[in-house]
Amino acid sequence: MRIRQHVNPNQVHFARFRGERPVLDGRPLEVEVGCADAQFLFERAQAAPSRQYVGLEIREDLVDLVNRRARALGVPVHAVFCQAQLHMTEIFAPGSVDRVYINFPDPWFKRRHHDRRMVDAALAEGIAAVARPGAEIFVQSDVWNIALPAMATFERDDRFVNLAGEWTFWRAGNPYGVRSWREQHAEETGLPIWRIRYRRR
Ligand SMILES: C[S@@+](CC[C@H](N)C(=O)[O-])C[C@H]1O[C@@H](n2cnc3c(N)ncnc32)[C@H](O)[C@@H]1O
Repeated sequence: MRIRQHVNPNQVHFARFRGERPVLDGRPLEVEVGCADAQFLFERAQAAPSRQYVGLEIREDLVDLVNRRARALGVPVHAVFCQAQLHMTEIFAPGSVDRVYINFPDPWFKRRHHDRRMVDAALAEGIAAVARPGAEIFVQSDVWNIALPAMATFERDDRFVNLAGEWTFWRAGNPYGVRSWREQHAEETGLPIWRIRYRRR
């Protein structure tokens, strides 16, 4: 199957939520925003199978692939087709998410494409609404010009506390014991990775 490399999240096509809401049962809930193949969530589900894992993804083909794989493996992973900046509150009840991962958001390097970047005040608003008090928000990127504005987004929002101290990157590596596809590639090729970790007040 041919998977599209990138889609423009600002297309009107993505404005209305057309995904399928996951069936959630109150177990601790971890969400990856922009999950792609969901390698990170599949590995989390193997390490901690008593939790639930939802990946949000704008490329519909990948959503189908992840859900077929999850069914075949019988693991508690579910992908939802959505535009995450717009649809977080359509998918999750207020205060229902225990952890949010944002692993290696698309860099959209060209200046005219910067408005396609995923981590912005709208995404933070959605996360603030669905994260329970005390929930963790973890962001990592191998692109400085993504990591710094992402940090600025959360630093400017009083609802989030930086666990490493204000305006400080998380130096200890990824604390979750699994790696996303992009993270594995970055580590194996020796790219620097900037990580930040927040708590929802
Ligand atoms: C560079 S990939 C990283 C995938 C994975 N997190 C990893 O670390 O390997 C970024 C993913 O975010 C998805 N994405 C980009 N903008 C999005 C949005 N607004 N809503 C949902 N997914 C989005 C892209 O389609 C892509 O699969």
